[in-house]
Amino acid sequence: MKITVIGLGHVGTVAAAGLASAGHDVLGVDVEPSRILSLQRGEVFLYEPGLQPMVQAGVRKGNLHFAHRDEAAAPLGDVAIIATGTPPASSGTADLRQVRSALDWIKSKEPRGLVLVMKSTVPPGTGRRIIEDDLRGAAISYVSVPEFLREGRAVADWSSPERIVVGADPNDLRSLDLVKQAHAGMAAPFVFTDVTSAEMIKYASNAFLATRISFINEIAALCDSVGASVDAVGEALAMDPRTGARIFAGVGYGGSCFPKDVRALNHIALTSGVEVELLRSVINVNNRQRLLPLYALRRRFNGAVSRLRVAVLGLAFKPDTDDVREAPSLDLIKALVNEGAEVCAYDPQASGTAREHLPESVRLASHPVEAANQAQAAVLLTEWDQIVNADWASIAQRMRPPKFVFDGRNALSKSQMLGLGFTYLGVGRGGRDRMDY
Ligand SMILES: NC(=O)c1ccc[n+]([C@@H]2O[C@H](COP(=O)([O-])OP(=O)(O)OC[C@H]3O[C@@H](n4cnc5c(N)ncnc54)[C@H](O)[C@@H]3O)[C@@H](O)[C@H]2O)c1
Repeated sequence: MKITVIGLGHVGTVAAAGLASAGHDVLGVDVEPSRILSLQRGEVFLYEPGLQPMVQAGVRKGNLHFAHRDEAAAPLGDVAIIATGTPPASSGTADLRQVRSALDWIKSKEPRGLVLVMKSTVPPGTGRRIIEDDLRGAAISYVSVPEFLREGRAVADWSSPERIVVGADPNDLRSLDLVKQAHAGMAAPFVFTDVTSAEMIKYASNAFLATRISFINEIAALCDSVGASVDAVGEALAMDPRTGARIFAGVGYGGSCFPKDVRALNHIALTSGVEVELLRSVINVNNRQRLLPLYALRRRFNGAVSRLRVAVLGLAFKPDTDDVREAPSLDLIKALVNEGAEVCAYDPQASGTAREHLPESVRLASHPVEAANQAQAAVLLTEWDQIVNADWASIAQRMRPPKFVFDGRNALSKSQMLGLGFTYLGVGRGGRDRMDY
């Protein structure tokens, strides 16, 4: 099948490469010339494990092509997938300008019988408005197929998603059939529903995961106050399928999806007069979590963060990606620098993407031990293997007293850290870890 993917970011590049590797003839288009040039050479401009070889295989085989949107002359094929960004607008809602521009481009091609698949995350009700207003009279069918892949595991998630949600007109059998063909070979159940419900499934899914994270973070705060261990609590909770898979307490969620999608859902509620107290609390708890290390440093150093040397270990919003969108590291580092701290940061992949968002005074190290050199405090924000399994004995030797480590992801062994002479603080680890016994 011939498929055009519009928008070659984290989702679109994986979609284009994944569809090509499943045997489809794929054209990927974007408005960013440098992205197109590097993809045409088989080079992926973002760090996503396994993606580059998949892109290279498609380019070599000849069924994966890339073109700048304004130079893409070929007809769009059977299916066009919109995977452009939907960043947060200042009001909290999703900014749909990239989606609208992609839509206009598709319409300008005057396709006949095209199935338009919306993979971008758009607020519930958007698809219905597009069908009624933008696509009226056009020979284009609209299907919502929200994307659930996780950065860092996107390649595996693409081919083995938990489910494929398809929102469409149930009488539009041709579109349903083409969407099924596009996803052939994926080992996942389909969930067929209407367009608005499909859009809501995506938001509810992200909001629910964000809620679970804020919930365990609130339990962690209580653990700290009563002297319990959130590790033991989280482990035991995860044994009951009703409470869901294991989640970890820490400095909260970040990234390009959870923060903006929860805020967008909250905005929908506000503008439609629906009370959503829980969502507001989820956002508030997360905002507080992100600055926990700052509060801890102020407490530990009697409010004197000024001139403190702090090593920040991890800049990406999570491991295995170089994405720093809404990463807790950016807020924390800015706050530390504002208060006069000297910051040296390390990340195995995200130093390049983070640089432009960081104050100039922040130094970037090429190794965790280098970042910690002469620091009185170290803050772990991203649980990369390179950080969790760093040479902590050397870090202890290089740091200055009190060798304070704030483990913002509860990724280190508290007993080992204490054994190495660090002053250690995790999130909600007031009690004894189960592994300490
Ligand atoms: N990143 C994720 O993990 C993830 C997961 C699931 C869903 N989503 C959703 O998928 C969508 C895409 O996310 P992303 O992270 O890939 O975004 P991104 O910002 O990484 O990529 C968007 C791409 O679209 C391109 N673009 C913008 N306007 C365009 C236009 N008019 N025509 C062609 N290309 C255009 C940009 O140049 C960019 O390359 C968003 O709605 C997001 O919420 C993202």
